[in-house]
Amino acid sequence: MSDRTRPSGPKIIAVANQKGGVGKTTTTINLGAALAEQGLRVLLVDLDPQGNASTGLGVAKEDRAITTYDLLLSDVSIQDVVQTTDFEGLWIAPSNSDLSSADIEMAASERRSFLLRDALRQPAIDTYNLDYILIDCPPSLSLLTVNAMVAAHSVLVPLQSEFFALEGLSQLLLTVREVRAKANPDLRIEGVVLTMFDGRNNLSRQVEADARENLGDLIFHTVIPRNVRISEAPSFALPVLSYDSRSKGSRAYRALADELVALNGHGAV
Ligand SMILES: Nc1ncnc2c1ncn2[C@@H]1O[C@H](COP(=O)(O)OP(=O)(O)OP(=O)(O)O)[C@@H](O)[C@H]1O
Ligand SMILES: [Mg+2]
Repeated sequence: MSDRTRPSGPKIIAVANQKGGVGKTTTTINLGAALAEQGLRVLLVDLDPQGNASTGLGVAKEDRAITTYDLLLSDVSIQDVVQTTDFEGLWIAPSNSDLSSADIEMAASERRSFLLRDALRQPAIDTYNLDYILIDCPPSLSLLTVNAMVAAHSVLVPLQSEFFALEGLSQLLLTVREVRAKANPDLRIEGVVLTMFDGRNNLSRQVEADARENLGDLIFHTVIPRNVRISEAPSFALPVLSYDSRSKGSRAYRALADELVALNGHGAV
């Protein structure tokens, strides 16, 4: 995980894995909260039509009149999309099911892969003085995920500690390579984080050993344990860091944030 430099302006990270249910949204919310807890300013961009990050942070369905769909496909200001959350230092650009038709509509645009990048480069974004933007991707390698990778400096990959976890990773890495070749030559892999890890389970330990052997340095030292408090938190519309601040899950996401900050440098440039 070497050679990552801190960009001027916010560091933009796409949280992606085309496999469903591996912990993308959970990682986006709780890593974001852990960074904000350090006093950093973080925007979460919900780029999944399921809108789980938006729901998980308490943005009611009726409060999603303007969403990331509009950010991509209509001429709206970032300020019309971004909302505050109850967690200090954490903002969200919410989504809803409108986004499910975005792929088809974006395909008609000549700048189809660059729509999110363009939106995040609006001068108005500077008013938030952000340190990080985390993009929660849908479980696919669709045009939405490509938009996230084109807009981002790096890709963070949550990997569920289960059998077949590494399957599909080569497809993801191929997409990263394609995006590099066509649109974003500087795109990096931020790292792979093992999620839902159960240290008592041989399989979890085997997946970790395989992942570290195959991917070496790309794997974060921090491992996110399977922890019931993490899975309960979204139904209270809270990051686990506020739902149960001292839980194992909260501590793990704080450690992940520390690791990320150590790799990227602190604060805005
Ligand atoms: N460390 C964990 N411990 C326990 N439960 C977890 C953990 N991480 C995630 N979960 C639960 O697993 C489920 C899937 O997690 P999450 O929604 O973050 O995955 P995802 O990759 O975003 O899914 P999708 O591909 O559908 O967007 C959720 O119910 C979540 O609460
Ligand atoms: Mg998700």
